[in-house]
Order: sequence, then structure tokens, then C-alpha cells
Amino acid sequence: MVNVAILGYGTIGSGVANVLWTNKEVIDKKTGEDVRLKYVLDLRDFPGDKVESILTHDFNTILEDDSVQVVVETMGGLKPAYDFVKKCLLAGKSVCTSNKALVENSGAELNAIAAEKNANFLFEASVGGGIPIIRPINECITADVILEISGILNGTTNYILTKMGSEGLDFGTVLKEAQDLGYAEKDPTADVEGHDAGRKIAILSSLAAGSQVNFEDVYTEGITKITDRDFEYAKTLSATIKLVATSKLAENGGRCVMVTPRMLPLTHPLAGVNGVMNAIFVKGNMLGEAMFYGAGAGSLPTASAVAGDIVDAVRNLGHNKKAEWKSEPLKLLSVDDVKNRFFVRISGDNEDAARKAFGEGQIVRVTNGEFAYVTGEMTEKAFAEAKETLEGVLGYIRYA
Ligand code: HSE
Repeated sequence: MVNVAILGYGTIGSGVANVLWTNKEVIDKKTGEDVRLKYVLDLRDFPGDKVESILTHDFNTILEDDSVQVVVETMGGLKPAYDFVKKCLLAGKSVCTSNKALVENSGAELNAIAAEKNANFLFEASVGGGIPIIRPINECITADVILEISGILNGTTNYILTKMGSEGLDFGTVLKEAQDLGYAEKDPTADVEGHDAGRKIAILSSLAAGSQVNFEDVYTEGITKITDRDFEYAKTLSATIKLVATSKLAENGGRCVMVTPRMLPLTHPLAGVNGVMNAIFVKGNMLGEAMFYGAGAGSLPTASAVAGDIVDAVRNLGHNKKAEWKSEPLKLLSVDDVKNRFFVRISGDNEDAARKAFGEGQIVRVTNGEFAYVTGEMTEKAFAEAKETLEGVLGYIRYA
């Protein structure tokens, strides 16, 4: 028998309990063990809920019970999750978490403690919800040099952008609607400013590089400045607009990690990823291209990924599955040196001035009084400088 405890009975934690109860037969068959949920830790009471008989308010009950070999952390945030997870690992228990802030912030350290204690620190659910992406990067594409990871890693912003594109609505209207429907948080900052996607691409970049990539070093732009007019231009260009997190290896061996809105041609693999769905495109030097698509959030999809980790942890009790993640921060390429194409909206009619500032490019018009210019490839620094020389720039989006 293997006993499991869950820390936090919120959306994900209750989903994990549900998976463990509903799919017990499958899980026992796949592990060859009787996998039992022994405790659930939460500050709250849940009268009448199935969890009542195994609910505890005291973390030490779980920590001090040697029969608990696998602990699931679904509390979110760093406090007290970090302390609890570290104590469990130091006690030789394996930990499975969905907590991206914890993984991004302390993944290297917790991974090292797990290795020292012949336990495992597993976090498949921390990126892409139910989509398998951590294990593929750590265990499947692990013999490749990972040249690129590009993904739609945030369901809230993808829902908002999809709706703006399909219904011609402005950002504020769609955000309010998404909040009313419970798709977007009351405080949507982390999602709409790209911080959530930034944490997730930092985790994927750390795994691809085998060294720590800090969220604070990831260049991040959100979607709050995207307008319904931008979508009119996108339509004319047979394109759409997505919030894309990218992690790319440059020719000089440096890695550039950024989260920005992008205007993507409809032929781009990420262009057809709509609504709350997520997708991650990976390019390896031997693999070529692969794409992972699915439910990036939600109770059961995320819990399914956590439960997969539980099975993995049970199969590997007493054995650490090696995962390279050094704690020294990886020095990222300066965004200034990154090359992109840009879609720029300019008021007035002075096409020559745009050509002079940005070089040869494509002119697009959807209304009077302004036009858009799609530049050729140029560095971020060159673009920023060129933009300053031009009057009437209304906005810009990276293109493709
Ligand atoms: N707020 C996140 C999203 C939840 O919208 O994708 C999953 O991490």
C-alpha cells in the first residue's frame, strides 16, 4: 500500500482527490500498488464532503506519518507551500505539485533535495495544465538540443484574444465578459500582463537549458494594448493575434526568452489554437518540430497531470529520476539583439517616412487616416530607434 496526502483542497486539490477516487482501479493497476488518499490538508472544513473523514488542519500530521510516501501540493503561492514541500522532501517523501510559482522560484533547489533523498519532485501540471510537456522535455526530447519552445501558455488571454478576433470586440468588453463568466480572475493582472505565461516559459526554458531561468529575467509584454482595429488589420493580412511565449537558442549559443503578443499568419501552427486551449511547439536539433495541444487549465485536466505524477512517484519510490536543473541563473540574451518583424500602425498617410524609418516593408490599409507597415526582420534595438524617428506611431505588434 502507498499512502498519499494532498495539501490544499481547492480547485486542483479537490480534482486530484476526485481522480484518485474515481480512477483508483486504473491507478492501482498501473502502479501495482494499493494507492490510498490518507489525508487532505486544508484550513477550511467541508461538511458533508467525501473528504471530511480524512481532512486535517495540521501539516505535521502528514509530515510525521512515515506511511505517507507521496505528497501532492496544490495550495499555490510560495507561503507556506515552499516550507511544506521542502520539509516533505527532506523527510524523503516524493512531492507532486501544480504550483508554477513554486517550481519557477525554487525548482532547482527542490529538485536537488529530492535527488539527495532518493525521492522525486514532479511538476507536470505546473505548465500547460493537462498537456504533457514537462515529461516530454525531461525524458523524451532529452537527447536533443532544444532550439525553440514557443507556446500559447495562458488560457485566459487566449480566450480574450480569440473572442476579440471572432466578434470584433474591444479588450475591456471581452475582459469584463470573461470575468463575469468566471474565466478571468477579478484581478486579471498576472494573466493579461503576461506574467503567468512568463513563469511557465521560465520553467520550460530552465528544463531545456538545464540551468535556472528566472521569471524576472523574462521580457514580458501583455495584451492590454491590443485593439479591435489591430484585429481588422490581422484579418486583411490573413493573420490573427496571440500571446506567445518563446524561448529560442540563438546562433551564438545564448537563449532569448520573451512573452509578447504576436500577429501570426493563419498558416502558423499556433494560429488555430483558440479559446482557453493551450499549445506548445517544440523544435529539437534532431527531432525537428513537435506540437503539444490541449486543456491548459481547469480542475480535472490539471488534476489528471498531477495524478500522472503520483503514478510516476509510486513507480519510482526510493529511486530518483534524474533531471538536470542547475541553480545558477542562465544569462539570457538581451532583448535588444533579438530579431523580429514588426506590424506598426501609423497615423496619417506618410508611407515614405515609414519606408525611410523601417526599410522596405508591406503597407496595409483598413480605414482612412492611418495605415499599417509590416517591416522586414530587424533587431528590437533597431526597431525601437527607428520608431522614435517617426511621428504618429499608434502601436506595434511583433509579426510571425
Ligand atoms: N490563469 C491560468 C490561465 C491558469 O489562464 O491559463 C492556468 O495556469
